[in-house]
Amino acid sequence: MDPTTNLSEPMDIQETLERLRGEGPGRIEQVESTEALEDLAAELTGKRSPIAAGRRSLGSAPPEQRRDLGRAINDVAVELDALIDARRSSLEAAEAADALAADRVDVTLPGRAPPHGTIHVIQQVMDEIVDIFVAMGYTVATGPEVETEFYNFTALNFGAAHPSRFESDTLYVDYGDVPEDILLRTHTSPMQARYMEQHDPPVYLVVPGRVFRRDQVDPTHSPVFHQVEGLAVDTDITFGDLKGVLAHFAHEFLGPDTRVKFIPHFFPFTEPSAEMHVFTNGRWMELLGCGMVHPAVFEAVGYDPDQVTGFAFGMGAERLAMVRHGVTDLRHLFDSDQRILEQYR
Ligand code: PHE
Repeated sequence: MDPTTNLSEPMDIQETLERLRGEGPGRIEQVESTEALEDLAAELTGKRSPIAAGRRSLGSAPPEQRRDLGRAINDVAVELDALIDARRSSLEAAEAADALAADRVDVTLPGRAPPHGTIHVIQQVMDEIVDIFVAMGYTVATGPEVETEFYNFTALNFGAAHPSRFESDTLYVDYGDVPEDILLRTHTSPMQARYMEQHDPPVYLVVPGRVFRRDQVDPTHSPVFHQVEGLAVDTDITFGDLKGVLAHFAHEFLGPDTRVKFIPHFFPFTEPSAEMHVFTNGRWMELLGCGMVHPAVFEAVGYDPDQVTGFAFGMGAERLAMVRHGVTDLRHLFDSDQRILEQYR
């Protein structure tokens, strides 16, 4: 319909109203979207529609027909607007339902799990070592990583000129003008002295922790690594107790058929001293250092060496992780390469 059609003639208006009344309802019913409906509404009853044009032309209609014509136009307009409103309601409802259906959350879809962390293999091994001793009645303690030379060396019977004290071996910390040297502990053994100073015997203790040495990184060395220290002090502890406890540990950690042997060694703070080796992965491997607590250590911490005896041991967590998992390069354990670390979940 051409909105510019001249509707100034009453007969034209009547005809147009008839046509609108005839085809309007069907067209409204067939519209499929609210957008198309608004276009149609503008065409049928809007400002540029024949209805609006008819109203504008009323002024020029013969006065005696104005009233009837005006009412006829209004009737059609009201009728069409009502149909448009009804159609709008139902289209809006349908469109809202469609939008809801499209946005619906499918609660049956499997979730997207975020990657989750795990306990690092070295921590796992330390926990496992500690657990084996806790099961035998040992207590757990930890100590400072920044240590005095007294606890790291002197109390442990290291001579004043022992090479471990050299800067080539040990990382010293510059604390300025202090009465004694401060260093990053080179082993967890200082906790033997610290613990005995604070506790009377008997002592059954394990100490997991991080230790530091001045080493270059290579397949078997790192300037930072981890140890678990052990100490048992009581009235009648013998080297036989040491062997029994550490063999039991090896059987728990590596399997009940694991063969162990003790080889003489030297540590300033134990006498006699030994290394325990285990037969695993087809060969003998050194697993830990151990020995009977040296009387000089008991004296340094205020224990009477005539009243008590004891044994001590220290093992490297990285070494035990490598033995356990057949890892041949220590650096794999530090590299944060998830492809490797995920094998030890
Ligand atoms: N502290 C020694 C080391 O780091 C290990 C050890 C601990 C040896 C206790 C004997 C007794 O090599």
